[in-house]
Amino acid sequence: MTVSDQSPVQQVEAAREAFEREFERFARFTGAAASTTDLSLKDAEAEQRALAELRAKHTGKKSALAACKKLIGRVAPGERASFGQLVQRTDVGINESIENADQRLKSIIESARTERDSIDVTIPGRRPRPGHLHPITLMRQRIDDIFVSLGYIVEDDREIETDFYNFDALNIPEGHPARDPQDTFYTTEGFALRSQTSTVQIHAMQRRGAPVRMIAPGRVFRRDTPDPTHNPMFFQVEGLCVDRGITMAHLKGTLSEFVHRLFGPATETRFRPSYFPFTEPSAEVDYSCFNCAGKGCRICKHSGWIELGGSGMVHPNVLRAANIDPDEFTGFAFGLGIDRTCARIYQLDDIRLLFENDVRFLEQFR
Ligand code: FA5
Repeated sequence: MTVSDQSPVQQVEAAREAFEREFERFARFTGAAASTTDLSLKDAEAEQRALAELRAKHTGKKSALAACKKLIGRVAPGERASFGQLVQRTDVGINESIENADQRLKSIIESARTERDSIDVTIPGRRPRPGHLHPITLMRQRIDDIFVSLGYIVEDDREIETDFYNFDALNIPEGHPARDPQDTFYTTEGFALRSQTSTVQIHAMQRRGAPVRMIAPGRVFRRDTPDPTHNPMFFQVEGLCVDRGITMAHLKGTLSEFVHRLFGPATETRFRPSYFPFTEPSAEVDYSCFNCAGKGCRICKHSGWIELGGSGMVHPNVLRAANIDPDEFTGFAFGLGIDRTCARIYQLDDIRLLFENDVRFLEQFR
């Protein structure tokens, strides 16, 4: 049966039934059961929006009920009064149901918002957790202190370098085999992440001339595969002393004073012949194990010695690259690995622990 086939009374009944069918889901917000409704704020707001749509659909200008109101003037005069009352009762019933549900939803939303925005002033506050320095920084500071007290200045230089400073000026020309073990990361513009702090030797000499005494702690990068003693990013501290009459004896004396202050006065140093293109002669430096005093233990892998780094007398070509006359000045330089020294001191089996940034681990070192 289409709307036009229905009698006016039937049309009112149909409008009421259609409303009741759709209103059924909102019935829980009316009557006695309403108080038990347990809705989240988000759901209650969604229900309120749906109810507003329902109101527009069943009471708006284009609703079936509005069409019924227009019929009042058209029904036979004898039936008009009772038909008018039917339309009005239906209208009032529909509006009341919607209003009741709307009121209930409003109060649910209001209490949910109050609860969300309320602050319990009796809850104890969260205690701020003060941070502390990273073990590598602590180690750097200890090293800085020792060298500053020996009259060295601390240089802080760039981590991105040109080939000239990372290799050529350090007497490692293009094609030199010493470039291989220090293969690093290159940018598209031809710059490279420095593979050693030795680059700062050149900057410092160019900037300050001779005599100069400086250390340069900092981050370096190599394409090394990570393992317990290697990281592709690690820390070194460079040392450089250039003056008239500097000899290998000054190098040995300085580094042995350094290990005395860092590990104790009984610590011994050992120099093994080595090769670095930027020093001649060159030597690897070891110190006697701080844990077993050279007898052999797990920390020194039962050798009694621990590697400190590389060292040597600055090569004349390096002095020349920095515009210093090698006939007038000589110098020594060294480069020590901070991470491995730090790992030994704190007895860590793996230097990668230092960079995992696990707070539970880092909190142990203050
Ligand atoms: C050098 O880098 C030289 N520039 C040192 C030097 C300076 C020699 C001045 C002479 C004069 P070497 O590649 O050996 O040398 O590295 C020095 C130290 O860095 C090592 O003893 C080690 O402690 C540390 N090291 C090297 N590679 C890594 C790595 N992948 N991860 C952690 N530490 C490393």
